[in-house]
Amino acid sequence: MKKIFAMSALAALLGASGAASAQTVNVICSVQAEWCNMIATVYARTTGVKLNMSLKGSGEALAQLIAERDNPKTDVWFGGTGDPHLQAAESGLTLEYKSPSLPQLYPWAQQQAQQSGWKTVGIYSGPLGFGYNTELLAKKKLAVPRSWADLLKPEYKGDIQVANPASSGTAYTMIATLVQLMGEDKAYEYLKGLHKNVGQYTRSGTGPIKAVARGETAVSISFVHDAPQERMQGFPVETVTPSEGTGAEIGSMSIIKGARNLAEAKKFYEWALTPQAQTFGAAAKQFQLPSNKATPVDANVPDFKKIKMIDYDYAKYGASAERKRLIARWEKDVNSLPR
Ligand code: F6P
Repeated sequence: MKKIFAMSALAALLGASGAASAQTVNVICSVQAEWCNMIATVYARTTGVKLNMSLKGSGEALAQLIAERDNPKTDVWFGGTGDPHLQAAESGLTLEYKSPSLPQLYPWAQQQAQQSGWKTVGIYSGPLGFGYNTELLAKKKLAVPRSWADLLKPEYKGDIQVANPASSGTAYTMIATLVQLMGEDKAYEYLKGLHKNVGQYTRSGTGPIKAVARGETAVSISFVHDAPQERMQGFPVETVTPSEGTGAEIGSMSIIKGARNLAEAKKFYEWALTPQAQTFGAAAKQFQLPSNKATPVDANVPDFKKIKMIDYDYAKYGASAERKRLIARWEKDVNSLPR
């Protein structure tokens, strides 16, 4: 009798602890905190599963996954620019998983999955542009910069912010865009010129638009979809896209190879691709274009048809060697120079 009781108590205990560990998903979240927190709250409430969120920029997230390669602590990497997700796929850090929801996604999101060998998938997209503080520009009697070339004008000296490409996917998207627009050597000459005008390189890609909003700098190089949130808080922020053309990110999601909570990770991944889950971006005032064709598109989402877009080569610029090389060249040829 005693033995049976002990065994059933043990079984209950094991069941409980098994359930507890299965009821958690460890997520690196590379979108803004409001969106990460909202999905964690909704997901826990509707499924009982806890999302342990760790907020990291795209480059930092990749660095963490490399560091924990032999002992992964992360199950899913949600969001962040697609290039480092492709690099993670190529480096064997993420798991091949072909979602049954793929046909519901826009071709760019499916292409991202295909190019990675089904190790990542597009969850949103958004174009790169410039943010500016209308009041500060007027006060300083500066014109709105409308082209990449404009950003090199001496009058913007110290008044431009952009993130550091080693930590930020936004800034790497800028480098890859410029290389595709101008050719590599000219792009690095351009980046050297831009360096003279940059007041600060931030760690996070959204840092510069927040600095613009608060009047700490007049101009930022930012994703266009990151501006409406600041405007909604009453800040005088507008955006423009460069007349020469610009690139876009394919924000992505990947399951980590060796994920400890694999079954729950796949469930979360599937949920994140549904139209319902994708509405939480706009609900958290983040206005990327969602990848599921059935997700309603908020009026604040940038209209790609009105923007001169380059034909961004995601496979090439997401390749591990290329991304590492371009960032190292930026450190050596650009960031080391005095300003
Ligand atoms: O969350 C806003 C956002 O611009 C995303 O669209 C993008 O994927 C991410 O930030 C990039 O952040 P970072 O440049 O810090 O890697």
